[in-house]
Amino acid sequence: MAQIAVIGASYVGLTTAACFARLGHHVVCAEIDEVKVSQLQRGEVPIVEAGLDALVREGSDEGRLRFVLGAAAACDSAEFVYLCVQTPQRADGSADLSFIEAAAREIGPALSSEAVVVNKSTVPVGSTRVVERVLGRDDVVVVSNPEFLREGSAVHDFLNPDRIVIGSDDQSAAARVAALYIGVTAPIIVTDPASAETIKYAANAFLAAKVSFVNALAAVCDAVGADVKDVVLGVGYDTRIGHEFLKPGPGFGGSCLPKDTRALVHIADDAGYAFDLLRGVIAVNEEQFHRVVAKVRDMAGGSLAGAKVAVWGLTFKARTDDTRESPALRIVSLLAAEGADVQAYDPAVKGPVDGVVSANDPYSVCEGARVLAVLTEWDDFRWLDFDKVGGLMETPCVVDARNLLDKPALERRGFRYVGIGR
Ligand code: UGA
Repeated sequence: MAQIAVIGASYVGLTTAACFARLGHHVVCAEIDEVKVSQLQRGEVPIVEAGLDALVREGSDEGRLRFVLGAAAACDSAEFVYLCVQTPQRADGSADLSFIEAAAREIGPALSSEAVVVNKSTVPVGSTRVVERVLGRDDVVVVSNPEFLREGSAVHDFLNPDRIVIGSDDQSAAARVAALYIGVTAPIIVTDPASAETIKYAANAFLAAKVSFVNALAAVCDAVGADVKDVVLGVGYDTRIGHEFLKPGPGFGGSCLPKDTRALVHIADDAGYAFDLLRGVIAVNEEQFHRVVAKVRDMAGGSLAGAKVAVWGLTFKARTDDTRESPALRIVSLLAAEGADVQAYDPAVKGPVDGVVSANDPYSVCEGARVLAVLTEWDDFRWLDFDKVGGLMETPCVVDARNLLDKPALERRGFRYVGIGR
């Protein structure tokens, strides 16, 4: 089994570290945040991610997973060093590589000879070469091995991937990286580094395009009186199209799809290609926030000024506590900008985010509300007492931006209901 260092203990790094330990490797995970390191050393996982706590505990108990402060400390005897640090977005949409460069600068002198440095962060095309340059080590190979982990099912996705992509010009380094996925059954695609980096952006941009396509389609369904659920079912049986990732909603969000879509537009621009199709995808997504607000405004009687609006859901999707680039937060701020008095509840959000406070329970936010907006698809919302909800509201009106609730059942209880495209 291999000695692996993982640099960065956020969603991707922590999942990678815990899953490699599960596969039997010896993993040291490095983090620069001292508090996080102490938490992880005590076995506390600071994020909501299904199955991750158990794997971190298992790896630590069995001595295959350790947490240390600082990247250099993890690299001593590592045969593989996975870079899983953040690549935030600059104001112009391009990716900020300063974290990855800083990590490479730090580990460069600490790497043992013949080590393989693996880029798992989402990085612009050409970054494998940048890391090689910053490391300044002729005896070390840099390989791209992008991640395709969805928050909420990252552990499952790591251990049961659709594919493993490895980008390297060095076939033997690629084979060594492939061998780390011992016991994982998936097609392995070995490409040059630039293609592997492009695959990652292409995957996220295509997923974003599917969501914008279905949201635009939902707008058509609203206008012509069709039901988008049935339309998607009907087209999804075409195996060339498929059923996945075609749920209309309040727009795509999170730390990946919006950032990576904008980054690919930027990468294409730099390379001399105007990726207008993707610009359209981004524009439709922006429109979608406003479409949801318009639905709430209509339900409120044409104006939001002074209207109490209850919001269920603040995270960018269910089964995570992540609110980064959450459509829900965008919509809340647009509602507030029109004068609405918004009270929100999310089962996974405790402290205030972007000035929005999550109440302790879903009912209290409905008191006196003119409209209830469902913005995240938490399953719990489906099973609440809607007679109680209706009784608390000024007017029992629901805008279900996730098409989550049972429309006929709500209408039987006297609610006015509007979804997305149905
Ligand atoms: C995404 C990709 O799905 C992963 O494959 C990738 O590895 C990851 O980004 C990354 O680059 O790290 P994630 O950010 O966890 O994963 O979120 P998704 O599950 O892709 O959802 C993104 C957004 O699209 C959410 O706001 C979600 O609610 C929305 N969505 C998704 C829809 O509105 N409709 C759908 O049918 C699917």
